[in-house]
Amino acid sequence: MGAEALLEQIADVGRDRVRGGYSRHVFDGAERELREWFAEQARARGLDVEVDRNANIWAWWGDPGPDAVVTGSHLDSVPGGGAFDGPLGVVSALSAVDALRAGGFAPRRPLALVVFAEEEGGRFGVPCLGSKLLTGAISPDRARALRDPAGVTFGEAMGADAEHVGRDDAALQRIGRFVELHVEQGRGLVDLERPVGVASSILAHGRWRFRFRGRGDHAGSTLLADRSDPMLPASRTVVAARKEAAAVAGARATVGRIAANPGGTNVIPSTVDMWLDARTPEAAGTRGLVAELSALAARFAADEGCRVEVTEESFGAEVGFRPELRDELSGLLSGAPALASGAGHDAGVLAAEVPTGMLFVRNPTGVSHAPEEHAEPDDCEAGVAALAQVLEAWAG
Ligand code: HGY
Ligand code: MN
Ligand code: MN
Repeated sequence: MGAEALLEQIADVGRDRVRGGYSRHVFDGAERELREWFAEQARARGLDVEVDRNANIWAWWGDPGPDAVVTGSHLDSVPGGGAFDGPLGVVSALSAVDALRAGGFAPRRPLALVVFAEEEGGRFGVPCLGSKLLTGAISPDRARALRDPAGVTFGEAMGADAEHVGRDDAALQRIGRFVELHVEQGRGLVDLERPVGVASSILAHGRWRFRFRGRGDHAGSTLLADRSDPMLPASRTVVAARKEAAAVAGARATVGRIAANPGGTNVIPSTVDMWLDARTPEAAGTRGLVAELSALAARFAADEGCRVEVTEESFGAEVGFRPELRDELSGLLSGAPALASGAGHDAGVLAAEVPTGMLFVRNPTGVSHAPEEHAEPDDCEAGVAALAQVLEAWAG
């Protein structure tokens, strides 16, 4: 079955009527429905399905064993996200199994599909939570204590199984090579007029919460001179983020989420939380940018008689995919171009542990993390064919 037809099967799962697009977050109703759908699809293909201690789903073609060829991605989304970021990699893996089996292929090495949990960090705030737990990049205690906006912890949401989360050496030792197919989140392939590309690198990126503390008060009775309004330094920091990032080559800085507490229209907030997503080509650049912004935020807060606390919620250094593997993928795919990725991926986490590569599928507008995210059916099929070719070469 083709990628588009499989995507069509889940097209109504997790639609967000308020934001538009999809909101599918770990252990919520939509994501649980997607987990069941994937397990059914995998079993229908004769794959053996298991969920690991970190809520990642594995579907094995053949017995689980060492030196396995593994492919997969994620099914969760950002709030109001598109249909392709994550699911395209999962449906392409299923479709590649169909294509390989139709061609009479039988793997000579264990082959597995994987769906990683909470790649977007859309509920608990840490991206790639499932793959970071698998590799030990986040501690079990920290993961269990993560809270969603409603105050529910990851441990509570996961239930009793949460006591077992943590680095899974047995699972990691089974992986010989990992390849993730993903919709491109940019226009590289459009500009190069190619349907499929391979990844060369991922930006160093992280998320920081800036909590501005002022004094809650009445919007009408409080004179301007008597205010300590945390929204002022927060707003100035948002503007400064763009200005400071513009001065750093290749940098991105985004504030996509801001929350005033208590959030009344006629209430001067007591605190304002804003989350900064900062990215540059190298870890030092990202940390330098955040340090600069933290100093400015402190100054803006003092100007208004407020205080600010900056908390790092996640950080990942830049990823350079192994050149020999990157070039092998490119060679397998008639010289598919290598692209730097501004977006983070589970493959970026796995790359620290096992030989890892990524395939990108052309996105006509480059738009992602928005309902307009798209990939044309022909390009999706080119992606499936490319993935099948890689799996056949690696597991044949
Ligand atoms: O935010 C990212 O780069 C990815 O989509 N999780
Ligand atoms: Mn994403
Ligand atoms: Mn993704």
